[in-house]
Amino acid sequence: MSRQFDVVVIGAGPGGYIAAIRCAQLGLQTACVDDWKTADGKPAPGGTCTNVGCIPSKALLQSSENYEHAAHAFAEHGIQVKGLSIDVAQMLKRKDKVVRQNNEGILYLFKKNKVTFFHGRGSLAGEGAGGYEVKVAGNSEETLSARNIVVATGSDPRALPGVAFDNHLILDNDGALAIPEVPKRLGVIGAGVVGLEMGSVWRRLGAEVTVLEALPAFLGAADEQVAKEALKVFTKQGMVIRMGVTVGKVITRKNVTVEYTDSTGAAQTLAVDKLIVSIGRAPRTDGLNAGAVGLEIDARGFIAVDDDCRTNLPNVWAIGDVVRGPMLAHKAEEEGVAVAERIAGRHGHVDFNTVPWVIYTSPEIAWVGKTEQQLRSDGVDYRAGSFPFMANGRARALGDTTGFVKLLADRATDRILGVHIIGPMASELIAEAVVAMEFGAAAEDIALICHAHPSLSEAMKEAALAVDNRTLNL
Ligand code: FAD
Ligand code: NAI
Repeated sequence: MSRQFDVVVIGAGPGGYIAAIRCAQLGLQTACVDDWKTADGKPAPGGTCTNVGCIPSKALLQSSENYEHAAHAFAEHGIQVKGLSIDVAQMLKRKDKVVRQNNEGILYLFKKNKVTFFHGRGSLAGEGAGGYEVKVAGNSEETLSARNIVVATGSDPRALPGVAFDNHLILDNDGALAIPEVPKRLGVIGAGVVGLEMGSVWRRLGAEVTVLEALPAFLGAADEQVAKEALKVFTKQGMVIRMGVTVGKVITRKNVTVEYTDSTGAAQTLAVDKLIVSIGRAPRTDGLNAGAVGLEIDARGFIAVDDDCRTNLPNVWAIGDVVRGPMLAHKAEEEGVAVAERIAGRHGHVDFNTVPWVIYTSPEIAWVGKTEQQLRSDGVDYRAGSFPFMANGRARALGDTTGFVKLLADRATDRILGVHIIGPMASELIAEAVVAMEFGAAAEDIALICHAHPSLSEAMKEAALAVDNRTLNL
């Protein structure tokens, strides 16, 4: 006998749990199935993001930034710190507590919104009398049926070929968030978002960090000027970043030796105590029974979906990391809400042109819309305006003047095409740019808006003024 719902969501990461909550808010009887568990076997909804991604990484970034400030920045303020030390066990304990609070928050939200939660592995079982069936294998076996299924099974870290993660010497994101003591030498393969964020955490705490990146250009998805500034700052901070390398053998004994050829083709070795491998993530479809039910998977392993997140199976939807598009929590959430609206017969919409990107290093990096190199290659005639935080009063008072805001606008219409920030609180500042772009604003609109003084947001206004060559404070 199957239990009947209107919607069954498989996966309770940011895509799945948000989809489930929105479905329930729209009056649909909703179940959500998730298999993540704590060390003692309890449910831990929230997916990669909550358990081993966004949330714990930001907790450690904050702890390590506090430590670095105490070590290097407080003295300038006249604050003397004697006998400074880092208690890694306590730092990890705090991170685990933050994660647990988020797990519990989601369980509470499920209860409040009347989403029925099932702890176990969900697999597609084809059409039954009551709709599409999902089998749940957990402490007990259950069969659920629903008219609509939402697959939100997320992604797993990619390993280097032949180099399995052991989370002792070869670390994935989970291992990188749980190193029990600061390693003397830390290697990172991949200068992407995980590599830079996790490399920053352990560098701030005292590790010598070397990053090996295959591509010749640093942060290729970011605006070139931002990427250049970021490389300069991270290098100055002490992170060694080698671009254009080819990683060869990885030998693990007491520690790790990485053989690689550098950008000139010369053979090199890197000896480290721990190695983080952060070379991207692969969609997770194992255990879904996709093959047996005929769910189409594309050549790269993602569940194939149309623009509205419909799969090839009627009333089966897929969202988040397991489908095309950026692997970002907020993208997964937006797709979750849009699919819920569509299931309820309403209009759902995700604007992929205004999905913001943030890298939570110090300085933070954030952007939305097109980069200058994209506009050039698309042949778009644009104007650029930049403003450095060095000339912003609040940044000076904060003692954090690295970086700039750059705004790109169409030359003819002045419509904002992209905004790029490297500097303090870029993650928060970018929201203004997202709103502006979503409302089709011109650079002049931002320039005409009153921004509080002194605030970092004035750099956004000044960058907008700079598009028309009329900054006031530079
Ligand atoms: P997931 O969060 O991966 O959740 C999928 C869930 O489904 C998991 O709980 C999984 O166990 C479960 N599941 C899978 N298969 C089944 C099954 N068959 N049955 C039952 N359950 C199943 N993004 C940001 O936007 N900002 C950040 O700051 C950020 N930081 C990150 C830091 C790190 C270290 C990492 C690794 C990622 C980070 N991300 C960040 C990316 C973000 O975590 C993902 O984009 C996001 O979690 C994707 O959400 P999702 O719901 O698609 O999948
Ligand atoms: P990534 O795609 O950001 O970076 C991977 C890097 O590894 C790339 O620069 C790639 O060129 C390089 N690489 C690939 N193979 C390599 C090899 N064999 N040798 C050397 N370099 C190699 O992937 P990452 O950092 O693993 O993150 C995964 C996903 O998680 C990202 O897509 C991102 O969307 C998400 N994420 C988001 C965060 C945020 O929003 N702040 C934080 C962390 C992760």
